[in-house]
Amino acid sequence: MNSTKKLFIQTFGCQMNVNDSETMVTLLKDLEYEPTDSPEAADLILLNTCCIRAKAEQKVYSELGRLKRLKKGEKKVLLGVGGCIAQQEGERLLKRVPYLDLVFGTHSLHLLPDMVRAAEKGERLTRNDFLDPDTRLDLFPRKEADGGVTRFVTVMQGCDNFCSYCIVPYVRGREVSRRSDDVLQEIREMAVTGVREVTLLGQNVNSYGLKSSTEPDFAGLLRRVAEIDGIERIRFTTSHPKDISPALIACFAELPKLCSHIHLPAQSGSDRMLSGMNRGYSRREYLDKIEALKKARPEIQITGDMIVGFPGETEEDYNETLSLMAEVGYADLFSFVFSARPETAAAKLADTLTRKEKQERLDRLQRLQQRMTLERNHTFVGTCQDVLVEGTSKRSEQIFGRTSGNRIVNFAADSSLVGTIVTVRIVDAFQNSLLGELI
Ligand code: SAH
Ligand code: SF4
Ligand code: F3S
Repeated sequence: MNSTKKLFIQTFGCQMNVNDSETMVTLLKDLEYEPTDSPEAADLILLNTCCIRAKAEQKVYSELGRLKRLKKGEKKVLLGVGGCIAQQEGERLLKRVPYLDLVFGTHSLHLLPDMVRAAEKGERLTRNDFLDPDTRLDLFPRKEADGGVTRFVTVMQGCDNFCSYCIVPYVRGREVSRRSDDVLQEIREMAVTGVREVTLLGQNVNSYGLKSSTEPDFAGLLRRVAEIDGIERIRFTTSHPKDISPALIACFAELPKLCSHIHLPAQSGSDRMLSGMNRGYSRREYLDKIEALKKARPEIQITGDMIVGFPGETEEDYNETLSLMAEVGYADLFSFVFSARPETAAAKLADTLTRKEKQERLDRLQRLQQRMTLERNHTFVGTCQDVLVEGTSKRSEQIFGRTSGNRIVNFAADSSLVGTIVTVRIVDAFQNSLLGELI
């Protein structure tokens, strides 16, 4: 038998990429590759890349620069780039980076084993074709169980929304929903291996199944997942506000397994900006959906994404974003300065703000959110929360888990509790976590 070879994967970008990296580990096991944490020890290094904003892209290129020295060392190392930059750049990337061995796009994961075999024989190669939806579903690679308590499950891939600023539809392709039978079977198998919480994953999960006359819609899928024995908690990400249906809102009222958290990015609080962004909803419509969600599940925690400095954003538009934040009361918010992305509609719009002005808007928004997050975290002090224990904390003798509302709680207890739901009294609150006491 061959001695095992070492695989180092560095993942950039969103949860879809994290998920795809886990799939790569599974796919390369058959080729006797075993994961390592050290690029120096690796025989194969893969970068799973993101180009959502210019900064994300720059990070990948500087990492590629750093890895050059390993390629030049005595040991033979193969270097590959996958993910969204690979999809976008394809052959160009292989030409531009002479020490790169393989480039595989977001629709070419299933080809990875063959590509690595060819690279081992000295070939340099690129695959970045888009697949049609049927082929794509038939070739959908699965990842194997890893013994964890929580697990992500892809339910759909790609995006058809074409928000004017966003590169995702160009690098992930058209929206396609996995067959519900496949999704449910995968989750049943996970439950048997000890998984207690699943997060249904996709760019826009609540448009799940809408293209099919035979498949359930997203609310229907949630109800079926909730029937699976052993799965105690269900989460999903990401949702698009325009596709939050009354049926989905009803799930929050009726499915106890569905966690009290929704990530529902608004992107802006200004109707003018929302329309320029091609988001398909108004501020009022967004707030109405938030209100309906809070009515269905009063303790629901809402998180979101916000973009500042979109072309044409005035001080007034910006202030509407701040006032929306206060009205919603986000538990947490990811916020970004607008970044012009190739091919997107908004890249053609004239920039109306200086870099400094945009950064100041972002800083102010983030300070406001930090304060609101900390205040909200403090409201949990003195309450009892059900926590699904996920593992041991970095700090000794503590374990950690999350509340149904997705707050991280650290508390002193035995690690044998991992995988169970326990009741914890919250005794202190910080910016990013809560401190608890086991009851
Ligand atoms: N599918 C998800 C989000 C995908 S990208 C959704 O629709 O909600 C994650 C976040 O990055 C977006 O919600 C948006 O806030 C931000 N983003 C995307 N493109 C961007 C750009 N060009 N400039 C700045 N932020 C951007
Ligand atoms: Fe991008 Fe909009 Fe699709 Fe989200 S819904 S991935 S922001 S195009
Ligand atoms: Fe980035 Fe691609 Fe995700 S661009 S955010 S890794 S879909």
